[in-house]
Amino acid sequence: MEFKPFSKKQRIALQWWALPETNNYDAIICDGAVRSGKTLCLSLGFALWSASAFDGASFAICGKTITSLRRNIITPLLGTLRSLGFICSEKTSRNYADISLAGAGSNRFYFFGGKDEGSASLIQGMTLAGVLLDEVALMPRSFVEQAIARCSVAGSKIWLSSNPESPEHWYYREWICKLKEKNALYLHFTMADNPSLSDNIRSRYERLYSGTFYERFVLGKWTRTGGLVYPMFSKEKHVDKPPLECSQYVVSCDYGTVNPSSFGLWGKAGDIWYRLREYYYDARKSGVSRTDEEHYAGLCELAGDLPISKVIIDPSAASMIACIERHGKFRVVRADNRVLTGIQLVSSALANCKIRISPDCSDILREFSLYCWDEGAKNDCPKKEHDHAMDDMRYFVMSELSHDGDAFFASSAPRRKEW
Ligand SMILES: Nc1ncnc2c1ncn2[C@@H]1O[C@H](COP(=O)(O)OP(=O)(O)O)[C@@H](O)[C@H]1O
Ligand SMILES: [Mg+2]
Repeated sequence: MEFKPFSKKQRIALQWWALPETNNYDAIICDGAVRSGKTLCLSLGFALWSASAFDGASFAICGKTITSLRRNIITPLLGTLRSLGFICSEKTSRNYADISLAGAGSNRFYFFGGKDEGSASLIQGMTLAGVLLDEVALMPRSFVEQAIARCSVAGSKIWLSSNPESPEHWYYREWICKLKEKNALYLHFTMADNPSLSDNIRSRYERLYSGTFYERFVLGKWTRTGGLVYPMFSKEKHVDKPPLECSQYVVSCDYGTVNPSSFGLWGKAGDIWYRLREYYYDARKSGVSRTDEEHYAGLCELAGDLPISKVIIDPSAASMIACIERHGKFRVVRADNRVLTGIQLVSSALANCKIRISPDCSDILREFSLYCWDEGAKNDCPKKEHDHAMDDMRYFVMSELSHDGDAFFASSAPRRKEW
């Protein structure tokens, strides 16, 4: 891999353990924007430090999952180390590598996925001289604390990197707010600290996020979710009469029996998707609940004669899915129900004006003005009210617009099980 000359902050992340003004710290904490060059410098710095400070010691390198760790850190790191003259022998089946450098130490590095089942018990018995935790805020607290507690060798150091989450997050409170107590060096990164990002790529990443997620992943701030989930929605920008003809049609469904059912008909014109019409039935309000067959009749009426390429539906709506499949008229696709990833994608679709709403869709328009974050909840989550058309839209966007951010969401955006 070709490196651009490292930025000043990257040089500190690489070398802090050797610099007289910072080598007394027990830990380094890097946070900030996505793609700002944190992981690259921390992982390389970790390997250089361990070779210069230890021989015959054990270390842990931890990512969210073993798969993402290998892809994002281990493979590029070992390549770089080999090109620098290190000898690396990886035991893939046993999740470790021995890394040595002539004239310096030879050490063993164990790999862990913090979120993988059983990681905390695997690391439990180890004695480590150092641990690198990448995307630490996405790992369970129990694993992180266990990993850090294993660093009992004299001179051990802890290396932490993450993107921002909520300021209520335990990692923010316990580590970033207690730098002195932890004797930690803190480095805050922005995309400007990554010399390899062109202006073009950088603005592409910036466009992927909006609202709270923009503040977190682009500005690098630990920002609370609060207020409306989609504050970027505006009548002026997003409500528009749809074209008469579209090149493609799909329907997205959020199904409820007691709660409302909301189905949206979407049509694509150019690279914009319009919500053309909707079916919204609130059994509580009308006092009468509908059977699956009655909802199915509503779906058929919504679709009319249009060539619907798929019906994207809430994966938990088993009986409704069975009903649609029994009729054999529509192709059913089970929706990806990761809530926060979906909200992020919808936010970016709105910010980039990739979706528009017909003025006739009064239920989704109402929900846009009411759908808000649950400010009392411990983790980021929207309130479970006024969320039916919001959910069907989210399923739609996850299915039809996720390729826009694919490469990005696959590699570096924070993902969690629930997302
Ligand atoms: N000095 C550099 N020279 C070349 N590429 C770099 C440099 N710094 C960062 N990069 C590249 O930029 C991308 C983002 O860096 P990464 O460390 O993954 O960021 P973060 O962990 O902050 O999301 C990676 O592909 C990385 O290899
Ligand atoms: Mg990273």
